[in-house]
Amino acid sequence: MDVIICANEDEAGRYTAAKIAQVARWVGPKVVIGVATGSSPLRAYAVLADLVAQGKLDLSEASAFALDEYVGLPEGHPESYKDTIRRTVTEPLGLDPARVHVPNGFAADLQQAALDYEAAIKAAGGVDIQILGVGSNGHIGFNEPTSSLASRTRIKTLTHQTRLDNQRFFNSLDEVPYHCLTQGLGTILDARHVALVASGEHKAKAVKAIVEGPVTSMWPGSVLQMHEHATVIVDEAAASQLELADYYKAMYANLPDWQRVTL
Ligand code: F6R
Repeated sequence: MDVIICANEDEAGRYTAAKIAQVARWVGPKVVIGVATGSSPLRAYAVLADLVAQGKLDLSEASAFALDEYVGLPEGHPESYKDTIRRTVTEPLGLDPARVHVPNGFAADLQQAALDYEAAIKAAGGVDIQILGVGSNGHIGFNEPTSSLASRTRIKTLTHQTRLDNQRFFNSLDEVPYHCLTQGLGTILDARHVALVASGEHKAKAVKAIVEGPVTSMWPGSVLQMHEHATVIVDEAAASQLELADYYKAMYANLPDWQRVTL
């Protein structure tokens, strides 16, 4: 696991965007990007959108797969992840909407929708780089504590903590759905690269647990310790509980140029 400690949220977003752009250039125009909603990746999306606008990156033939979707919202709800991804990813990054996929949390048969989603990822050749945020309880996707480390896309119940954390997107806690469809931890581990970005003091405990704690379903993001190409990108506040912070900083400061990720 590579741990990159950035001075602030802005630098973390720039590094995350640079990592995605690097993989996109390695893979070529048909790169498959796994995308997250929430606040954490927004800075990276803005940087990527600038690269696209300046003609430095072309994602018009890329595919994207979102991590998750609420279950229980009406279709077209502005806070549904289908709408959120269109607003924050598909349009600004110039993706072809036909190649942008979000789990169908509106389906009458949710179990079939979960199977279909796994099949669609497979048919696209798998995810080249997966962008992740982390919940304050350590979830990635909506894989809440005690999720199976081998889980695939399925229906999950959101914890009270996650509903509280996401209340800011709704008018009241009552409006926050109780259920979701989410890629499983096993699904996420299949991505060829993963880049998790976190900023702020409120993420410090989760970052400490997933980077330096034991691999445990109580902190689902800790499963990334089993991934061959996982990068955790944090600002100083989110890194504040890391025991080996000085080591991660020294490692980054002394990277040879050829290993550096730049925009
Ligand atoms: C979003 C997702 C979640 C969020 C996490 C952090 O698609 O799957 O795991 O990444 O809840 O959310 P923010 O970034 O809003 O703090």
